[in-house]
Amino acid sequence: MVVDDVKKEQQEKARPKIKNKIENIDEYETIYVGYPNWWGEMPMILYTFFEDYDLSNKTIALFCTSGESGLSDTEKTIQVLEPSAPMVKGLYVSKLASKEATSDVKEWVNEIK
Ligand SMILES: Cc1cc2nc3c(=O)[nH]c(=O)nc-3n(C[C@H](O)[C@H](O)[C@H](O)COP(=O)(O)O)c2cc1C
Repeated sequence: MVVDDVKKEQQEKARPKIKNKIENIDEYETIYVGYPNWWGEMPMILYTFFEDYDLSNKTIALFCTSGESGLSDTEKTIQVLEPSAPMVKGLYVSKLASKEATSDVKEWVNEIK
């Protein structure tokens, strides 16, 4: 069950492997990272991602879906993992309103560009 798996991964501080390697990450200036909020945390595989890739001097743009917790402390966590990457204000997409979030997403993306 997903819920149990997530709890176990968090307790064990797991670092699930990422299947594909991004060979040309140097070519990107802005890295958009989207994820669900799981008990106030980002999925553990994102720890793998931020530990594997040095995003120094790239802009990080986070978007997170959740019930009502918003991004919780995930922005702070990621900033610690990527101290030299500027971060724009993350976008919270409510799980309940995700179908109506199109205009919020457009506005957010346009602000970053
Ligand atoms: C294991 C698990 C833990 C979750 N914890 C939270 C939480 O702490 N706060 C919250 O607002 N939503 C929480 N949610 C809801 C998810 O953030 C929400 O289902 C997801 O962002 C929307 O993606 P989905 O449509 O694929 O479920 C949790 C969901 C799961 C499965």
